[in-house]
Formats: sequence, structure tokens, C-alpha cells
Amino acid sequence: MTIADLLARLLFVLYSLWPHEHKGPLKELFKEDFMIGAALNAKQFTEEDKESLGLIKEQFNTISPENVLKWESVHPKKEIYDFGMSDKYVEFGEKNTMFIIGHTLVWHSQTPAWVFEDGQGHVVDRETLLERMRDHIHTIVGRYKGRIKGWDVVNEALDEDGTLRQSPWLKIIGPDYLDKAFEFAHEADPDAELYYNDYNLESEAKRDGAIKLIQRLQTHHIPVTAIGIQGHSNLTWPSTEQLEKSIVAFSKLGIQVNITELDIDVLSGSSDPYPQGLSESVQLALAQRYVSFFRVYLRHKDVIKRITFWGVTDKDSWLNYWPIEGRTNYPLLFDRNAQPKQAYQMVTRVKS
Ligand code: GLA
Repeated sequence: MTIADLLARLLFVLYSLWPHEHKGPLKELFKEDFMIGAALNAKQFTEEDKESLGLIKEQFNTISPENVLKWESVHPKKEIYDFGMSDKYVEFGEKNTMFIIGHTLVWHSQTPAWVFEDGQGHVVDRETLLERMRDHIHTIVGRYKGRIKGWDVVNEALDEDGTLRQSPWLKIIGPDYLDKAFEFAHEADPDAELYYNDYNLESEAKRDGAIKLIQRLQTHHIPVTAIGIQGHSNLTWPSTEQLEKSIVAFSKLGIQVNITELDIDVLSGSSDPYPQGLSESVQLALAQRYVSFFRVYLRHKDVIKRITFWGVTDKDSWLNYWPIEGRTNYPLLFDRNAQPKQAYQMVTRVKS
């Protein structure tokens, strides 16, 4: 056992012995500050996953669909829309009076190849792709008009250097594909909040790129309600300074800032060091990391409307499968048995 582990164990024991009442739920604790959400998978919103169900209803007042509203799920073939699962997702949110998010309309990933091709496998022209985008957005946003309250209209349009990603959308339509996506969404539901969403927005180059992107849309009078900082993080990245700098810079654009896909990867590289459970020192480091992020969020609660975790319990997180399949990751506030972790306990005490 290292000294760090020993110290962490000591702190852990002291912490567990300290008399404290159970605080929570999250949505109540932060009710005056921001909404607290989670991305749900199909087993959760169809209520098959009974273990998570109580937790979801108790802790969260906003939900995002992990996969069911992505293009490949909801519109797998040109003539086929499949709303089976997305209808259930929206019904679940309404039944539990949650703020329902739609994710995502225009993205380079999880979008079928047919979208960009003609019947012979050749790349389509600008007009064809714009028409397909219009049909997709009008059909989906229109179907849930007034029910899905906010949409990630464009996801991940930026490269790491802050320039526009060379996606098929950009190559075929040009940079105004962003304008068009927002315009179509606004036409389909004029009351819906519309978001630009991306990862690594805490890095300087991408922060600057996002500012330019939003400013460009604003110059063209495109309605953008908020920017979504996804918030996929690890134990060292981003720094709280980087995070805070981005929140402040984005708020100066006169838009809201949401944290939309929060999780903290505790593994690095390809190994699977904690298959049986996290060491106490890493458990504590994770908790402290969450606390430091929440302190930043609270300082900017005037512009932050929502903090959404990408998943409910560690068992469901995509980080068990990415970047390497089959690891045992611990990125969220609830463990594999849907029990609150030390990170949860510490986040619930962040305001006291
Ligand atoms: C991105 C997407 C999400 C999800 C996560 C990882 O951040 O926006 O929909 O796919 O990656 O699962």
C-alpha cells in the first residue's frame, strides 16, 4: 500500500465515521441553481432496469436520450422512421415531469451512410443533402413539438484545432449547414431551445473555435439558446481553470451554458486495474474532482441551466467500452448496484 493509499484510507474512515445526515436528492439540492439530468438508455426509460428506476425518478429532473434519437436509430433508412423507442423515451419524461432533451439532429457519427449517398453509392449534391436534413429535422422535431423542450441541433462540428470538422455535412453543404440545421429546427418548433454541443470545449483552441462558430450564427440571426459543454473528463483533464474560462467566455456571447454529458474517466491507457472495485485513493480523487467541478458550476449558476451526467450508474457507462471494450470504469456518482458513491456524498455537501 502506498502512502497516498494509506492517507486516503484514513480520510475515508474518518469520513465514514463523521456523523452526517443523508443529503439529497440532487434535483432538490440544486433546485435553485440548475437542473440535474442523466442520459438514459432504453432499459431505463422502458422501466425494465428496475434497479436504476427509483434512482432516476428520485434524483433527476431532466433527461437526455443516450442513443434512441440519433439518426441511425430513429431514421435508419431513407423511407423509414422508427419512433418506437423515442416515443417511449418522451412518454417516460412526461410521466415523471422531467425537462426532456433531444439528442442529436446533425452529427457526423451514428449517421447512416445512405444520408450522404445516392442509390449508386455516389456522394449526393448540396441540394439533396439539405433536403434530407430538412426532412429529418422537420419530421423529428415536429413529432415532439412542445414535448421535447431543447435540442442538440448540431453535435461536434469542431476539430481539435478549433476549425470546422471535415465532416460530410461540411464537405457537401459548406459551413452554412450549421445555419440551416438551426433554421429547420426553429421552423419545426419555434419554442424549443436550440443548442450547439461539443466535447473538449475547455481547451483553448476549441473554445476559440466554438466562440467563432456561435458568433457566426448570431451574425446570421440564427437562434441559439445555449452551448453544451459535454464535460467528458478524467482525473486530470480539464483543469478547473480551463473549465471556468470556457464557461465565462461562452456566457459573454449572451447564451446559456449547459454541461451536457458529464462523466469522469478514472482509467488511463488500456489496462483494467480495478476490476473488483476502485482503490480508496482513486475513489477519493474522483469525489474531489466532482466537488471541484460543482464549485465552478455553482459560481456560474446564473448562466448554467442544466448539469447532465452521461449515464446513471457506473454499470451503464459508455466508458466501460471506450476507448477499449470490456474495462471496468467508475465515472459516475452511483455504483454498479445503483448505490451512491463517496463522490455523490461529497457533491451533495458542496453547498454546505
Ligand atoms: C458523444 C455523443 C454522445 C455519446 C458520447 C459517448 O459525446 O454526443 O451521444 O455518444 O459521445 O457515448
